[in-house]
Amino acid sequence: MSVPRFIALIPAAGVGERMGTSMPKQYAQLAGRPMLQHVMETFSSSSLISHTFVVVSANDAYISDLPELPRTTILKCGGAARQDSVTNGLLAIGSQTEDDDWILVHDAARPGLTHDLLDKLIAFVKDDAVGGLLALPMVDTIKRSDGHGRSEMTVERSALWSAQTPQMFRYAQLLQALQQAQQVTDEASAIEAMGHRPKLVEGSARNFKVTLPQDLLLAELIFKDQGMS
Ligand code: C5P
Repeated sequence: MSVPRFIALIPAAGVGERMGTSMPKQYAQLAGRPMLQHVMETFSSSSLISHTFVVVSANDAYISDLPELPRTTILKCGGAARQDSVTNGLLAIGSQTEDDDWILVHDAARPGLTHDLLDKLIAFVKDDAVGGLLALPMVDTIKRSDGHGRSEMTVERSALWSAQTPQMFRYAQLLQALQQAQQVTDEASAIEAMGHRPKLVEGSARNFKVTLPQDLLLAELIFKDQGMS
């Protein structure tokens, strides 16, 4: 049997409604380049990643403006929800993938991923039977809303983590989990629904998801601080 490879899959078919811009948020400019380009470059320049696949929607009008990168392929098969985009991407690469290959799914909207974080995730998960994800332990006191703008209770936070990406699972198991799962917002949820327990690997605040317009300013500051622009 061949040695499992590490393959990146970047779902980038969202419209980014909360950004309030006409252009999908993955193409928003960050330190002089579209956010998605930063993410693609991080994977393309990693010596551990054998290939990177980027899933965009069939009518994406922006992806062709990005420069071509080594070992990177664009798939125009995005779906209605993130789960559909990842599933379609997995199906599209089936003939080039072994069942045991590791798939690292990473949001296009998390441009703060570094090689150090990527290497850490792979080192902690590559020998695991299930797989795992970058995540951050909760530090704030957590409130549950009553649905009317008032705090109903304080939730015990010691066991709570905030999920990030990449999320890393074996090709065949991930595809099966996503095809069986009902409306999940990440890969780990689908794997959990099969009765497995993905490994939590501590990520970093800099790997946050750009969602609102003000998040771009924060991402820009992080890039400048690290001299990554
Ligand atoms: O919208 P949200 O920030 O949760 O999206 C997370 C990631 O999933 C983004 O990279 C986005 O482009 C992607 N996505 C997708 N297909 C969708 C919705 C979101 O690939 N239909």
